[in-house]
Amino acid sequence: MIAAIDAGLTDKSGRKVTLRGVDDENWRSVADIVPRDDQRDWVAESAARYLLLSLREGLWHSLAVYAGDGVVGHIMHAYDEDDGCNWIGGMLIDATEQNTGVGRAALLTLIGYLQELPDAPAVRLSVHEENTGARKLYASAGFVDVEKDEDGDWTCELPAAPAGDEA
Ligand SMILES: CC(C)(COP(=O)(O)OP(=O)(O)OC[C@H]1O[C@@H](n2cnc3c(N)ncnc32)[C@H](O)[C@@H]1OP(=O)(O)O)[C@@H](O)C(=O)NCCC(=O)NCCS
Repeated sequence: MIAAIDAGLTDKSGRKVTLRGVDDENWRSVADIVPRDDQRDWVAESAARYLLLSLREGLWHSLAVYAGDGVVGHIMHAYDEDDGCNWIGGMLIDATEQNTGVGRAALLTLIGYLQELPDAPAVRLSVHEENTGARKLYASAGFVDVEKDEDGDWTCELPAAPAGDEA
């Protein structure tokens, strides 16, 4: 179980944003996280699906996104042996909590955590070409487009820091 990941970031109203493991206390709140109706083409209908994926396949690691003491979203990460990259997936902020700066803070917190791991590789994620809000967020965090598949999903990458770079 990962202890709380706290990069000291807040949302636009000053709530502290942290990532915590999913446990007996919070899993129901995480499972109930849902996107807006018009976002369902890009993500699962609720975070419950991502929780099950993490539990059943053991590849992805689900994290609860907290704003203050409340669960407001889900995000997960996995190491892909095929491309040697850490992947971020299942990023979902509850419809009632979007556009408050939580998503940006959660993303930057997870990126910081992954980049501090030993020999941290590049970080990758997949995002549909029409998901302009998410694409804008990822670009502002430094992700660059790598390739687009036939379904319109972009693989985007945040390059690994050069060896010896302490920044
Ligand atoms: C994408 C998502 C995670 C962003 O989380 P959020 O908390 O709403 O985002 P933030 O409030 O932190 O905004 C961060 C940036 O994202 C972009 N953004 C977010 N929503 C946007 C929208 N509706 N339109 C345009 N840009 C948007 C903006 O660049 C914004 O920065 P700004 O506030 O300085 O303009 C959230 O909208 C979400 O859960 N969407 C549904 C699921 C999804 O698409 N996940 C990504 C799958 S790859």
